[in-house]
Amino acid sequence: MNQYVLLTGGAGYIGSHTALCLVRAGYNVISFDNYSNSSPEALKRVEQLSGKKIITITGDIRDQAALTAVFSQYSISAVVHFAGLKAVGESTELPLHYYDNNVAGTVTLCRVMRHFNVKKLVFSSSATVYGDAKEVPIKETSARSATNPYGQSKLMIELILEDLVKAEPDWSIALLRYFNPVGADSSGQIGEDPNGIPNNLMPFISQVAVGKREQLSVFGNDYPTPDGTGVRDYIHVVDLALGHLKALEYLEQHKGIEAINLGTGVGYSVLDMVNAFSTTNQVAVPYKISARRPGDIASCYAEPSKAKTLLGWQTEKTLEDMVRDTWRWQSQNPNGYQS
Ligand code: NAD
Ligand code: UD1
Repeated sequence: MNQYVLLTGGAGYIGSHTALCLVRAGYNVISFDNYSNSSPEALKRVEQLSGKKIITITGDIRDQAALTAVFSQYSISAVVHFAGLKAVGESTELPLHYYDNNVAGTVTLCRVMRHFNVKKLVFSSSATVYGDAKEVPIKETSARSATNPYGQSKLMIELILEDLVKAEPDWSIALLRYFNPVGADSSGQIGEDPNGIPNNLMPFISQVAVGKREQLSVFGNDYPTPDGTGVRDYIHVVDLALGHLKALEYLEQHKGIEAINLGTGVGYSVLDMVNAFSTTNQVAVPYKISARRPGDIASCYAEPSKAKTLLGWQTEKTLEDMVRDTWRWQSQNPNGYQS
């Protein structure tokens, strides 16, 4: 009987790139997604790019019966759990929706996994669980905190999964703490397709470059950083996808739970990103300096050595790759998957 890896949220930005990486590595992949923030077109393109079939199921992780049906029909060896809502601002307006979707959804997923004795789980956590870290680069052992319901939901899920492993040590769980995913597959066929006005820097820059938005607002130039603008650890989504493959391989051999940073270890400022984007792609990115965004921190980048030691993984892509691949996707698909 064929074994499958189940990707919850497999049609999303990181899920679709990971699906491509996994099918190319020979895995059979099932995506389970409610398309609340994605399009079925993404996985159609993954199928075209890979020449492989992906089983796509429309469903919500809070729907225990729907998940049970999937686990009954297919032999699932592991789950990579991307499904979740991720807009910080929206989470402060709709906290119950975020806790229900992210936290209750994860509990339901784990309950079904447990019932079918599937105990290998890769969870999409985030550097947001470090709150405003006292020291950079940030180690996995750094204190955790959260300042908004989105961040709280990620932190709560980490705590729930830690308790689960304490109670049932035969689980194998990786908490992958992503830093700032950017970029796109080098084909330009799949990429990040945010709804409405982008919250994050890279999609905003690329929408300005393509003429959809007038100019970028740089949120503050008075931070204690080299040029005064915020510093982040931008990681190419293709490197990030490969980190999931390595985590799945690791879970084959190890029980217990590990939190692992997925970042480059290098921080770039907002102006570094704007300059790299316009220089590499020969396109103008008009910007103005505006006020700080409430809740933002000055500097956040990973100490990435644990991933190298445990998973044998480190990033390969450069800043130029990140901005070039973002632009290829954006310019070929000015309206995302509706182009
Ligand atoms: P995304 O919104 O593109 O993908 C999430 C996918 O999950 C979407 O396809 C959405 O339709 C689906 N989904 C949401 N709720 C669902 C539910 N209840 N049932 C079934 N499907 C559901 O986001 P992404 O950028 O690909 O992020 C993937 C994961 O990584 C998320 O959990 C996110 O919080 C986390 N993460 C993302 C970033 C980032 O900057 N992109 C950073 C750190 C962590
Ligand atoms: C945001 C989220 C964080 C989440 C992360 C990855 C907030 C407060 N935090 O973090 O929880 O884990 O995304 O998805 O939303 N910037 C501008 N102008 C813009 C947009 C951003 O100057 O229009 C700056 C920001 O001030 C920051 C940097 O660009 O310095 C990166 O911003 P963003 O892409 O939103 O990521 P984070 O702030 O790291």
